[in-house]
Amino acid sequence: MQQTYVVGGNRLKGEVRISGSKNGTLAIMAGALLAKGTTVLENVPCIGDVNTMVEMLQQVGVRTRVNGENRIEIDASEIGSNEAPYELVKKMRASFCITGPILARLGYAKVPMPGGCDIGARPIDFHVKGLQALGAKVSIEHGYVETAAGKLKGAHVYLDFPSAGATQHIMTAACLAEGTTRIENAALEPEVVDLANFLTAMGAKVFGAGTSTIEVEGVKELYGVTYRMIPDRMEAGTFAIAVGITGGDVTLVGAISEHCTAVFQKLEEAGIHITAGPDFARVRSDRRPIATDVKTMPHPGFPTDMQQPFTAMLVIADGTSVVSENVYERRFKYVAELQRMGADIVQEGRTAIIKGVPKLTGAQVTATDLRAGAALIIAGLVAEGRTEISGVEHIDRGYEDIEGKLGALGAAIVRSEAAPESTARLA
Ligand code: UD1
Repeated sequence: MQQTYVVGGNRLKGEVRISGSKNGTLAIMAGALLAKGTTVLENVPCIGDVNTMVEMLQQVGVRTRVNGENRIEIDASEIGSNEAPYELVKKMRASFCITGPILARLGYAKVPMPGGCDIGARPIDFHVKGLQALGAKVSIEHGYVETAAGKLKGAHVYLDFPSAGATQHIMTAACLAEGTTRIENAALEPEVVDLANFLTAMGAKVFGAGTSTIEVEGVKELYGVTYRMIPDRMEAGTFAIAVGITGGDVTLVGAISEHCTAVFQKLEEAGIHITAGPDFARVRSDRRPIATDVKTMPHPGFPTDMQQPFTAMLVIADGTSVVSENVYERRFKYVAELQRMGADIVQEGRTAIIKGVPKLTGAQVTATDLRAGAALIIAGLVAEGRTEISGVEHIDRGYEDIEGKLGALGAAIVRSEAAPESTARLA
């Protein structure tokens, strides 16, 4: 069983290239099912969730292949099956978003209720409500969601919460519907805007993405295109936070700073310097971080995905911080693991109170989900001695070679089957 081994104490220095966006790619791969033709996606991150989506598209009879580095070809001229397998959907929630496009193309789709990271209740009621509004008959039985519709029809859909997934799913399904769909209280995430740009490039008529009202005028057909993924703002945030905890000077090559505003501003509040350009951000720090309060919110608020890595940094900050999780109630499961490393955190419900400690000590810990894994790596980067992280398959869902990238910046970190003989081998 592979583990990640980190020895803390090295400052990070140099340049790191930010990979393509995980969440953007997954939504766009589902959207590619709408085109009667071949879509080529570039700058696709080489990560577990993308592999799962590739398998998923293949399983529904769509010719999909990874063509060279970070490039995927999806030929959706034919969709061979309207049923998705449980084994894949249970692994990843985003795969549920193939329902709308398959329904729009074939008039019927049967997709299992989704799984994904265990970070709290993740219902699909907004997705179902949206598809129903577009005229689909939906029944949920034996763990499967069955949807059927002759032709989807444009409708008004109000979301009770600006859900990224539901906004993307309804927007995609509406592209081939008859008439106009309006989504109110839509999510504002950059990945929603990027999906709209992709759909527009395919011939769709999508207006208002990036605002809370999105309109989609249905068209008869969409076409395959070549499209490049935007950089992953969560990966950029993770590396910026890593510099915040270790100190050093790192340039995030390709990062779009305006996608990272909340995280960068909070880092600045914590005493970390950030110089942002159009396609890079330079992160510098030569001091212990200052305690900072954080509340997670939908975009443009502080992203829930960055709550865990940021908390890991606050663990060694000077002073006491309060972190409130307002999106996913169970996104604090990693706290017990940080406590094993010496963190002083009291967690109650959706709030964690973090009293900064001067040092952490390396320990054996387990990643319970993707961002929890990132948080443990970040803590390991400053912990005295060796941290051994198991559950690395969660980390691989969303980070492309995180050990290689951190290693190139000077961190003592490896992924291996067995513990390296000596900590010296790591450095
Ligand atoms: C996406 C991201 C994930 C991120 C999350 C919140 C992908 C692949 N994943 O997940 O990394 O952590 O946004 O920014 O893009 N909700 C409902 N009913 C629904 C749908 C959502 O109640 O039908 C609730 C959820 O329980 C949660 C909130 O809405 O409390 C936000 O969820 P949502 O934005 O939909 O998250 P995902 O799209 O699943």
